[in-house]
Amino acid sequence: MISKSTIQKVNDAADLLDVVGSFIKLKKRGANYLGNCPFHNEKTPSFTVSPTKGIYKCFGCGKAGNVITFVQEHEKLSYPEAITWLAKRYHIEVEQTELSNEAREQQQIEESLRIVNTYAAAYFNTILTDTEEGQAIGLSYFQERGFRKETIEKFQLGYCLEDRDQLAKEAIAKGYSKELLVKAGLVYDRHDKLQSIYSGRVIFPIHNQSGKVLGFGARILKTNEKAPKYINTPENEIYHKSKTLYGIYFAKNSISTLNECFLVEGYTDVISLHQTGIENVVASSGTSLTEDQLKLIKRYTKNLTILYDGDAAGIKAAVRGLDMAIEQGLNVQVVLLPDNHDPDSYVQAVGVEQFNVYIKNNKKDIILFKLEASLKEAKDDTIKKSELINDIAETLSKINKVEEFTKQQDYIRRCSQLLQIDEAGLIALVNKKIREKLGKEDYANKKEIDTLAQQASPEQIHIQPDINELLQRDYLQERGLIRILLENGNKPFDDKMSIADYIRVKVGNADFQNQPWMKIYHTYYAYLDESLQFPEEKFFTYHDNEEIRTAVIEALYFPYELSAGWQEKHHILTPTKEMTYIQDVNDTVTFFLLRKIRNMHRELFDELRNLNDTDMNEVMVLQLTILGLKKTEAELLEPMKSVMTK
Ligand code: UTP
Ligand code: MN
Repeated sequence: MISKSTIQKVNDAADLLDVVGSFIKLKKRGANYLGNCPFHNEKTPSFTVSPTKGIYKCFGCGKAGNVITFVQEHEKLSYPEAITWLAKRYHIEVEQTELSNEAREQQQIEESLRIVNTYAAAYFNTILTDTEEGQAIGLSYFQERGFRKETIEKFQLGYCLEDRDQLAKEAIAKGYSKELLVKAGLVYDRHDKLQSIYSGRVIFPIHNQSGKVLGFGARILKTNEKAPKYINTPENEIYHKSKTLYGIYFAKNSISTLNECFLVEGYTDVISLHQTGIENVVASSGTSLTEDQLKLIKRYTKNLTILYDGDAAGIKAAVRGLDMAIEQGLNVQVVLLPDNHDPDSYVQAVGVEQFNVYIKNNKKDIILFKLEASLKEAKDDTIKKSELINDIAETLSKINKVEEFTKQQDYIRRCSQLLQIDEAGLIALVNKKIREKLGKEDYANKKEIDTLAQQASPEQIHIQPDINELLQRDYLQERGLIRILLENGNKPFDDKMSIADYIRVKVGNADFQNQPWMKIYHTYYAYLDESLQFPEEKFFTYHDNEEIRTAVIEALYFPYELSAGWQEKHHILTPTKEMTYIQDVNDTVTFFLLRKIRNMHRELFDELRNLNDTDMNEVMVLQLTILGLKKTEAELLEPMKSVMTK
């Protein structure tokens, strides 16, 4: 890990204006600087840098941050990578914190594996190009497949000699240990004789996104053998198949600039496409996509296009990772290639121009594609059809409603048309799925809550879990309060006050944890005070602040109501919405306040723990405050208790 003091030094030395200025042209405007945003396409500059505050913000696309986030975003780096990048630029020595013995050992193994892989990749490549056997068997194979010399060099392709002793002999002579060679998956140990695993095969080194060799894929050349077509590096400290995408190092820049990533199945597909100039392509290496792979792609683009064989297996494979990709917020399209072609054979058969035309004309949105394919399969089978409606609702429920509200609505409309069902019905089903998912998440949170409950006093315990269920997150509490304010603010609370007034009296200027909710809260009352009218929902849903707009959409359309669940559980008759709104308001406000009190309580407790015994005065003040909180909490809980025990 990079030491705190290095991070501090980098923070002190890094100059935002200097860093941004080295990528884009900036013009001074008053105290700030203005330029064309590097994160989206624009003609009129809306990217603002404040050198004094050390922050930037684009008023076009909304990207904002500090010098470190800028380097992260612009150079596609992780946080430690960005620190290292900046340290280099400002000539700061990167100091690593002391590692535990175990961590150091792990790091050493990783480093040794990287070194031996680098060595082996170069070795296999030399065998391919400089030995008689390599040229006659390996090189001629690649040439036959149409791979040019510079392509072979770029991907560092190689060949492993038939003679199983050669590699181990040379590597041991160079000082690499037996254990390391075995761990790297290069040789196996047979009665103390080290034998090449890849003998007689051509070699595809697998690079990570920064160009380090993590492992190899080795393709057999002979036919009619029982041996597997490819042998791949086994999982070890640095090679994790599920986190790797073949070709990412060579593709990442192109993916970024074109804002699209092609996904293919095989090593040879990646190489062939690169050779024709299509460089934004990576391979999943024959497995279904994993979450880690999707996250890797998402670093560079949100647009994923899957190019698979047109056969049934290809279709299945394309659809398999779909829900996960949607959860990641990726836009997924699919292109099925003509019969019996993979991208490699197809581009070689028709040439790059026709290949591109085919892709363009046959790109299909994968959600609709999936629906069409399963509709075809279901035909008139009503059971199958209801299954697939369920299935598509599940998929649509994975779309992030907050960020992509219109996208979800659009899909619901189009899917209900395809299915010939009522749009409202599909909306209801999708919402039900979201609710179920939220229920599961709540359950995961419950563990933490149970621990909290155990710390509570005995008489509280029997009600604690129920209330805590509803208390789990500030986010939910705050969203609940905003929802009630927007939906019911203009209704009377009693004959003197409106709901909005009541909420203001109770909540006042409470500290929200989540900015958007706080903004809406204050905007609401600012509007009310100024115009003496209650703002309509439209005022917010069409607000020109995007944060407010999306948050309000979430609060109003999210099908999650605080009181519904436990009313049911406690067999309380659920009256109509109109009748319950006072109850709803009361509950929501109470839960909101309880949550705030809990937070304060916890903070004070931490403070108390950190004080030393000599600060007697401080200790007493804190204890008194905590007591006060406890009392308020008990008062708030009182009406709840009677409800719960009914
Ligand atoms: P393919 O059989 O489509 O291979 O498997 P390919 O890359 O197109 O090879 P050619 O064109 O026949 O020479 C697709 C991918 O699945 C993985 C490899 O990553 C391969 O590139 N695979 C396949 C294996 O890991 N092991 C195997 O035995 C077969
Ligand atoms: Mn192939």
